[in-house]
Amino acid sequence: MKKLIIGNWKMNLGLKASLVLAKAVKGIKTNNEVGVCPSAFALAGVKQILSGSQVKLGAQNCFWEIAGAFTGEISAKSLKEIGCAFVILGHSEQRALGETCQRVNLKTKAVLAAGLTPVVCVGEDWAKYKSGKSRAFVQGQIKRALTGIKLNGKKLVIAYEPIWAIGSGKAMRAGEANQMQALIKAEAKKVLGQPKAEVLVLYGGSVEAKNAADFLRQDNIDGLLIGGASLKAQEFKKIANIK
Ligand code: 13P
Repeated sequence: MKKLIIGNWKMNLGLKASLVLAKAVKGIKTNNEVGVCPSAFALAGVKQILSGSQVKLGAQNCFWEIAGAFTGEISAKSLKEIGCAFVILGHSEQRALGETCQRVNLKTKAVLAAGLTPVVCVGEDWAKYKSGKSRAFVQGQIKRALTGIKLNGKKLVIAYEPIWAIGSGKAMRAGEANQMQALIKAEAKKVLGQPKAEVLVLYGGSVEAKNAADFLRQDNIDGLLIGGASLKAQEFKKIANIK
């Protein structure tokens, strides 16, 4: 089945390096859906390079207002104008800097209103995982992020990224991720009040070419959100091409 594979370049690349990587991945041809999320300053340049490519463009964050006196912020409407297809929201690295569920909720609404697909990140830290509180914690994150949201036929993507698995080289076991993702999908549909809503759930956290297929084989894993491995063009291509 067709999966969604998104590379999150985080703040790893400057403008030149972003354009070089965009050139290296633009030729990806696969049955999966693929996207990359460069830093905001590189979005327009990367979009130009990706013109005619199957690889879609995404942003790593945005603000919830459409326009106005909000120094340093970027609206979902502007991201749409640049040519983004989706926006990562509530990444744990943003949450660690103060991002709240309430703001993720406002941003999710703004992204949907702009005609883009939100990629809402959730996930527990090691202490919660070890003490068996992952499920309740992640359900709470979903409830707060999705309260009052109506999809009206639009697509929502949730990325389940256990914080302890991010950049640690210790991915969650695929079967365990699969179980969490079934729960996440059910919770999201419950909060949305739409059993038939189009909700995709991605896994993220130390995914590489060598373990990606294990995740993609799982029923409830609709795709992957990839950090470190998405910075290596060949590695990312391999993952994008997994059937
Ligand atoms: P890594 O793939 O580097 O673990 O990062 C995952 C992530 O945070 C993607 O958003």
